Amino acid sequence: MANNHDLARLNIMTLPAYVAGKPIEEVKREYGLTDIVKLASNENPLKTSPKAILAMKDELENCYVYPEGSSPSVREALSGVLNVSADMIMVGNGGDHVINLIGEAFLNQDDEVIVATPSFITHELTAIIMGAKLVRVPLVDFHYDLDAMLAAITDKTKLIVICNPNNPTGTIVRRKAFEAFLERVPKHCIVIMDEAYFEYVEDPDYPNGIDYIKQGFNVICVRTFSKLYGLAGNRIGYAVCAKNLMDVLMRVQPPFPVNRIAQAGAVAALGDDEFLANVLHMNREGRKFLCEAFDRLNLTYCESHGNFILFDSKIPNSWMYERLLQKGVILRPCGAWGYSTSFRITIGTEYENKKTIEALTELIDLYERSKND
Ligand SMILES: Cc1ncc(COP(=O)(O)O)c(C=O)c1O
Repeated sequence: MANNHDLARLNIMTLPAYVAGKPIEEVKREYGLTDIVKLASNENPLKTSPKAILAMKDELENCYVYPEGSSPSVREALSGVLNVSADMIMVGNGGDHVINLIGEAFLNQDDEVIVATPSFITHELTAIIMGAKLVRVPLVDFHYDLDAMLAAITDKTKLIVICNPNNPTGTIVRRKAFEAFLERVPKHCIVIMDEAYFEYVEDPDYPNGIDYIKQGFNVICVRTFSKLYGLAGNRIGYAVCAKNLMDVLMRVQPPFPVNRIAQAGAVAALGDDEFLANVLHMNREGRKFLCEAFDRLNLTYCESHGNFILFDSKIPNSWMYERLLQKGVILRPCGAWGYSTSFRITIGTEYENKKTIEALTELIDLYERSKND
């Protein structure tokens, strides 16, 4: 009899595992701690919009009825915020799901997908699942190498992914460079602008992917309610693209991808101006606090435009990660991305940022002393 692996589609056996941030409950259990700071998954430190919570509670009693499959209320609300027509928006079960659907809709076996590395892994996983060929273009000095991405384009290239800001570096591609790049991308390619952290960016030269859709370029924007809107646990994200691409994308949308609670929460969160302003304020202040602390500790870091910062502790992660956990601090070690002494830290509340910097300071000191012993 065939074993399970013999039954699998061949390409999925090469999939790398997705490593999620270590759950708070697990750290509590393993280390017997009660006060845990988790800054590992770029979630919202101010939690969930209060207006969204009320709307979600109200929606609970309707859960016996299937949700509306195309999330019309969310698309309508987004249409107002983004200034695009609702039929250019598709809502899915998180940005991850939307990225999967784009792959399902557009990738044939042996099409090529150009991604930067390191970057957000779901784009790679989707390409592999679809049997497409991945073309990885390394970042240079933590930034996209757009010339190298252009040079990698062939007749078989279907998707080119620009994660802006990039995860895990937090760096951005700026407008002038992006426009020069886009002009040179041939018509048989689609550029995916993964803008999961769009709302956090304050740089005046940051390009808004939707502008290029309006100008007629083959661009699909992917965004999410997981970050600014504090709805990571609800799983809701969306794609924006021109109608010709949307017609294709809609063909792979499952009947009920987004549940009622998530739809109600998303609509309410979009209108919770006070919460959104507080999140952005806290992120700005927290970024400043953390960068100043890294400067004091003489640690290098990337100039981040999102709600997280990639910094170099200069100490092997294998030493640092576990000791941070013992102090109740969960960060994302970046060894899998090739940065073996670096961590990605989500910008947290004042308390969370302080606790993390205190733990880091103590551990750096301990490491230095252990080297001198
Ligand atoms: C760059 C990027 N894109 C997409 C996503 C997907 O977000 P979600 O599936 O939570 O909507 C994330 C999540 O961390 C991300 O960092």
